[in-house]
Amino acid sequence: MFPAGYVVYKYNKLGSTNSQALRLINDSVINGDSVIIASEQTEGKGRATKTWLSPTGNIYLTFALKLKFDIQLISQFSFIAAVAVGEILDEVQYKWPNDLLISGKKVCGILLEHHGGDYLIVGIGVNVNNSPDYATCINEHYSFEVNELICEIVNNFHHEKKLWLKNGFARVRELWLEKAWGMNSRLKVKMKNVVLEGEFVGLDEEGSLLLMRGDGVHKIRSGEVFI
Ligand code: BTN
Repeated sequence: MFPAGYVVYKYNKLGSTNSQALRLINDSVINGDSVIIASEQTEGKGRATKTWLSPTGNIYLTFALKLKFDIQLISQFSFIAAVAVGEILDEVQYKWPNDLLISGKKVCGILLEHHGGDYLIVGIGVNVNNSPDYATCINEHYSFEVNELICEIVNNFHHEKKLWLKNGFARVRELWLEKAWGMNSRLKVKMKNVVLEGEFVGLDEEGSLLLMRGDGVHKIRSGEVFI
């Protein structure tokens, strides 16, 4: 069962659930919190204009959320989404800012989009039965049904969002840090024009990565992390 209050749009095949969410928002079809789900995507979108391979057997799910919170806080939804998926999998690690890994390989990616309107788009792709060779899928390690997982993700997301609205980011931050990949080790963070190297020492209260270097702790709002 899905939590009350979400309208669910289900499709067999879509270009992208994020793009469909945007279309439904722009056409004023969506009126309130919604979930858009597809069994397959033909133009799945990843971060930084990458494509997200989207055959059947995996999860392609997008939340369209009516903005009832400070726009400055929207990046925290990538952590809420990560924890909503990660709570189901004891072996998972969170890779800053948006990835979930099992055995060091990517199993889930999250793509936030906000195009200036009243809605935030939170896209979640989970490899359940298929993955590219460089990544992994949940059922290489567990045995889950896609529909069962979708239901758990939506319920976990709703629960974490409700607590976040009431109490702020502290709980999600703590859950995320408990399973943070690369914590207390040396990392490189690739930003637009520069790569910074240092020790990953935590997350601040907004979700920025804290990187300790010779000249002190740097707060990094966006970038890509690697060893
Ligand atoms: C990443 O690059 O890690 C983000 C991948 C996000 C993929 C999901 S699948 C559901 C939603 N629809 C899309 O087109 N992309 C996101």
